[in-house]
Amino acid sequence: MSKFKVAVIGGGTMGNGIAHVFALNGYNVVLVDVSEEALQRALATIEKNLRRQAKKGIIQEADIQAALNRITTFTSIEDAVKDVKLVVEAVPENKQLKLNIFKKLDQNAPVDAILASNTSSIPITELASATSRPAKVIGMHFMNPVPVMKLVEVIRAYQTDDETTKFVFETAKDLGKVPVEVNDYPGFISNRVLIPMINEAIYALWEGVAGVEEIDTVMKLGMNHPMGPLHLADFIGLDVVLAILEVLYEGFKQDKYAPCPLLVNMVRAGKLGIKTGEGFYVYNGKEKEVSPAFRK
Ligand code: NAI
Repeated sequence: MSKFKVAVIGGGTMGNGIAHVFALNGYNVVLVDVSEEALQRALATIEKNLRRQAKKGIIQEADIQAALNRITTFTSIEDAVKDVKLVVEAVPENKQLKLNIFKKLDQNAPVDAILASNTSSIPITELASATSRPAKVIGMHFMNPVPVMKLVEVIRAYQTDDETTKFVFETAKDLGKVPVEVNDYPGFISNRVLIPMINEAIYALWEGVAGVEEIDTVMKLGMNHPMGPLHLADFIGLDVVLAILEVLYEGFKQDKYAPCPLLVNMVRAGKLGIKTGEGFYVYNGKEKEVSPAFRK
């Protein structure tokens, strides 16, 4: 039995994962991206990830095609959102782009449709203000990789009403996720707590308190974190870590959020972590070793 229709805007890292979990859980999904190539890439990734889940016995073989059949693709928002109940926006982290998209969604989606953003750091309250339905705008912050990670941070804008929050909570639970309600302040909870910890680890490295592996080992073995903070920074992308710190620094105007100059330099040098092959570590396929810049 199929459920309500949901639109996912942007089929990149997060968007294809979001479309994947909705389709797998019986929702009809319209997936929107800027080009046919981007959409084909997204569908290929979804198929690959569904196959991996089937191989691991998490889903049945038959679920793969059933989920794929529930996804239709569009290159224009106008046509895609006409009859949806929920939209989840997952385009790149650029405020002006998201404001434009929220205006377009507001003009084209049914008046009672809920408009959610997967943003990591842009104020939901500001996105809500760009629409004529601010009470129906909310943050639905999935974690990467979406099919695996249980948490959905549900971010209430200043204007979000209870009905919208409840609807999104129930939807997240129906996807097998665990929703947590958070108010709209810089970094929400996830990034407000995580990113300053990573920044502190980078400061400790910069000040020579310990080396890359030592810092990561202390946090892994001492605190039971699955990944050390420097490895995690490479995984997230150092440019993304810096951008979120800047949001926290701007938002709170407190020195404790000031980005470490080493992080700023690494971003300037294009050493962004796994996606560029080098950050605190250098990556060669699945292997990693400490970057020559930090070897003793
Ligand atoms: P991405 O760059 O992998 O994907 C963005 C997608 O949006 C691309 O496929 C791009 O072609 C598409 N796009 C660009 N302009 C568009 C438009 N006008 N209409 C439709 N599609 C458009 O980005 P990613 O990593 O998936 O991030 C998306 C959002 O999710 C961002 O707001 C980010 O902050 C947030 N986020 C990212 C996480 C991550 O680990 N990557 C974790 C949690 C949230």
